[in-house]
Amino acid sequence: VSGIVYLVGAGPGDPKLITVRGAEVLALADVVVYDRLAAPELLDLAPATAERVYVGKEPGRAAVPQEDIEALLVERGLAGDVVVRLKGGDPFVFGRGGEEALACSRAGIPFEVVPGVSAAVAAPAAAGIPVTHRGLARSFAVVTASGAHGDGVDLAAVAAATDTLVLLMAAGKLEQTCRALIDAGRPADEPAAIVQWATTPDQRQVTGTLADLPALALAASIGPPAALVVGPVAALAYELAAARASELTKAACIPNS
Ligand SMILES: C[S@@+](CC[C@H](N)C(=O)[O-])C[C@H]1O[C@@H](n2cnc3c(N)ncnc32)[C@H](O)[C@@H]1O
Repeated sequence: VSGIVYLVGAGPGDPKLITVRGAEVLALADVVVYDRLAAPELLDLAPATAERVYVGKEPGRAAVPQEDIEALLVERGLAGDVVVRLKGGDPFVFGRGGEEALACSRAGIPFEVVPGVSAAVAAPAAAGIPVTHRGLARSFAVVTASGAHGDGVDLAAVAAATDTLVLLMAAGKLEQTCRALIDAGRPADEPAAIVQWATTPDQRQVTGTLADLPALALAASIGPPAALVVGPVAALAYELAAARASELTKAACIPNS
């Protein structure tokens, strides 16, 4: 009897932002294969007897090779296990979930993709930045600031065609990224924000312009994981993040039943 592999989006950081379906399949797991950016609290949703296998990158140590992760999913699926592959955000947004789905498909193992709330939209939202907004932005693009082999993406075309840009994996390359966007024709005084550890208690954000954000972020020691948001909508962060903060304060005053 073949098992099944669930490729589950863990959401952006707050464990409550997993989907109902994600929580449901976690409760069925024989084995959970999880990443660094999946909230650790989510492992508690799996049965106590489920095996937990960490395949994320530890600081200063090499990541588990992608082929090894895929081989593990296939091996456990063929052994008849219910496998939950828990990945930060959405499994198909810069998560290599497509490769893992292909590995299952080619091995004849049933699999299901459980979409997740991607940091690409959750990080701006948590900072009070709507990625589209009437009169300010009718389009947004999600781009990686670093390619799979360390090579950069050509930002010029997307920068010219899109109102709001969300750049993931940009924290270590903020200076080059902002410079490339200015060189691609985005105004140096365009609003920009960087949001670190969005939706977690460690969330921090810095807002500025394309020209001054790199220095401001450096001064604030903003590092990964962080999302860079560029566009007129980033100017709403102050007003909307403040509103959100007061909501949180209000929520904190309501005792849990
Ligand atoms: C390899 S990508 C995976 C993205 C993930 N699949 C998703 O949909 O959110 C990792 C990048 O996502 C962004 N990211 C993930 N979690 C984040 C968070 N809580 N706050 C800010 N950015 C985050 C960062 O840019 C980080 O470098």
